[in-house]
This record gives sequence, C-alpha cells and structure tokens, in this order.
Amino acid sequence: MRILITYGSKLGGTREIAGLMARVLRDEGFDAEAAPPEAVDDVRVYDAVIVGGGLYANHWHHRARRFVHHHLHELRGRPVWFFSSGPLDDSASQERIPPTAQVRALMEQVGARGHETFGGRLESDARGFIAHAMAREHAGDWRDPGRITRWVRGVALELREAGRPWAGSAALHQEAPR
Ligand SMILES: Cc1cc2nc3c(=O)[nH]c(=O)nc-3n(C[C@H](O)[C@H](O)[C@H](O)COP(=O)(O)O)c2cc1C
Repeated sequence: MRILITYGSKLGGTREIAGLMARVLRDEGFDAEAAPPEAVDDVRVYDAVIVGGGLYANHWHHRARRFVHHHLHELRGRPVWFFSSGPLDDSASQERIPPTAQVRALMEQVGARGHETFGGRLESDARGFIAHAMAREHAGDWRDPGRITRWVRGVALELREAGRPWAGSAALHQEAPR
C-alpha cells in the first residue's frame, strides 16, 4: 500500500514530522514517502494520503492548503488524514487540540478521517522579523516523537483493518469528469 505524507512547512519542523511518519510507516511495512507538495504530480498513485501543515496565525502554511485545494477531487476518493504542528509549549502533549476553523473546513471538503495537533518548533535564531521576535519568548522544540509515532501507527492500523475498500470508488473517481 503506497502512502504519501506531504506538508506545508516554512521553518522545517513540519517537514521533519512528515519524515518521521514516513519512517514509522515503512517500519510497519507500508510503501511510504514524505514529499513536499510541489513534488507531487498525481495523487492517484497513492492509496492513502497524510497532509500536515505548520500553523501560522491559526492557518495552515499556504502550501498545505493549496495542495488540498489542488487535489480536492482525488483526495475525496481515498483515505486522508491531516495533522497540524504549532503550539510552542507542551499543550499538545497534555490534551488533544482540535483543528483550527480553516483546517476543519478543509477536512470536511475532503472527508478526512482524522486530525491531530502536534507541538511545534521555533529555533532561537529563527529568520524573519515576527518569528525572531516570537523566538525570544517561545523558542524550543515541542514536537513529541512518541506521540507522533503512536498517532501514525494508529493510521497504519486503520488502513490495515480497512483493507482497500476505497480502491473501487477511487477508480470511479478517476473516470469522473472534473
Ligand atoms: C509568525 C508565527 C506565527 C505562528 N502562529 C501560530 C499559531 O497560530 N498557532 C500555533 O499553534 N503555532 C503558531 N506558530 C508556531 C509554529 O506553528 C511552529 O513554529 C511550527 O513548528 C512551524 O512549522 P514549520 O517549522 O514547519 O514551518 C507560529 C510561529 C510563527 C513564527
């Protein structure tokens, strides 16, 4: 089963989470790859897709949002999960943080099966005026590899249990006019 993990990431934190997810899924026996949205031509070669976005002012990084809009039709025809990475404290490890309004709306559009918020990372020497100012108080790495690993193993379990019931409908979707 081929799985894509793609992401919108400005400072690299979400990209690294996607890389960890791909490694975990490969260890679980899946053919998983992490790739930036611009490297993905056709979503139809994947059996399942995970899309993640770094949070900026409660919005996903624009590349993640654009990816969903661009591939909306194909995403609707396969199992999709979303994740966000943002909080610069341990709140995401303490409790489940729901998707922001924008991400929730995107989930509804594609019929995403789940969403998880993970902590983010901001380096003390972050580039950019606002990021640098924020880093004075909030620099740190709040990503939690254990939580990320557990979540993506849950995705793997769901995919295994479901088998590939969507394969037929995905084929239909490919034929449908845009
Ligand atoms: C300008 C700016 C705005 C941010 N806004 C939010 C926010 O609204 N919510 C949140 O949880 N984290 C916010 N963060 C934290 C980032 O989401 C966090 O640093 C994340 O790891 C960035 O992802 P990236 O490294 O993949 O770009 C913000 C960070 C910056 C620099």
